[in-house]
Amino acid sequence: MSLRQLPGLIDVHVHLRDPGATHKENFSTGTAAALAGGVVAVLDMPNNTPPTVNEQRLSEKTQIASQKACCDFGFYLGATEDNAGHGAILSHGVAGLKIYMGQTYGPLKMADLAALIAHFRSWPADRPIAVHAEGLAVAGAITLARLYDKQLHICHVSRQVEIELIRKAKESWSATRLTCEVTPHHLFLTQADVARLGTLAHVKPPLGTEEDRAALWGNLDTVDVVASDHAPHTLAEKEGPEPPPGVPGLETTLPLLLTAVAEGRLSWERLVKLTSENPARIFGLKQEGRTYIEVDLDARYVLDSSSLKTKCGWTPFEGMTVRGRLVKVYLRGVMAYADGRVLVRPGFGRALF
Ligand code: DOR
Ligand code: ZN
Ligand code: ZN
Repeated sequence: MSLRQLPGLIDVHVHLRDPGATHKENFSTGTAAALAGGVVAVLDMPNNTPPTVNEQRLSEKTQIASQKACCDFGFYLGATEDNAGHGAILSHGVAGLKIYMGQTYGPLKMADLAALIAHFRSWPADRPIAVHAEGLAVAGAITLARLYDKQLHICHVSRQVEIELIRKAKESWSATRLTCEVTPHHLFLTQADVARLGTLAHVKPPLGTEEDRAALWGNLDTVDVVASDHAPHTLAEKEGPEPPPGVPGLETTLPLLLTAVAEGRLSWERLVKLTSENPARIFGLKQEGRTYIEVDLDARYVLDSSSLKTKCGWTPFEGMTVRGRLVKVYLRGVMAYADGRVLVRPGFGRALF
């Protein structure tokens, strides 16, 4: 066994479904899955039912997570067409503002330009605005962030043209004001996998072409963060008449990236930047030495849904052989996970903001 120590992963994009859809996931199952994936902190999205768009919903979520979370946590505030001014007041208590600039799963969608501008005007300049933006909306988000000089984080970039536009915008505007993330599913799967996976591969943004996937790898120096976009839905829902978009990812990000390292496609330094250093810098989180993970580089195993801790119980990466296994997770000096078992109780996780 050859062990290596790494900083714990910070996953800046997860949907833990609590409250509202706890049959898919909840804060204890979702954060147990996080620890099993080497993730020590999660930033949870606001597209719950009802959505996390005001102080009451935020304090409700904080209460639930404080009781159930096994790892540390923070929340995004969801932008609506009428919460811009009030949103800015809440900015200190959240990871950032999340704006859905297009239709996806859940009740949040920003369709009004005046309301969108109101958010870009009033949100504090030093806190991130994270956007779900596909295609044209990527250009719209960059334009507004530049006009109002805000910190923009573009979620789940999936297309060649998008990553190339972001590269250009970073060069001509700012590589610190503008940041972006990609998901493991857009790095490791393409439209060609839909034939095999069927509706399990239905995700927003949709899986790209081989050229798109290659462009994400080819522009990895422009990518700031790898985040899972852990979006659990039950198998019955995914295989039903109206399959919702989304795949779980908390437990597969690390083994997939370690495999890329073993294959020489990713350096250790870049892995640490993408999963830990950059997330901490962008969202203003402190990293502490007593929080780290241990991985066994020699391990080789097959990803298998029966060993997952996510409540949804499946993965689009089922059957894939990966290299490098998570052995232990230390969170604030406490052994929180070892050899397949979560060792801390729900409630151990702390609020980050
Ligand atoms: O595939 C997705 N699922 N994309 C999103 O933007 C939302 C997410 C979800 O909440 O299920
Ligand atoms: Zn999204
Ligand atoms: Zn998402």
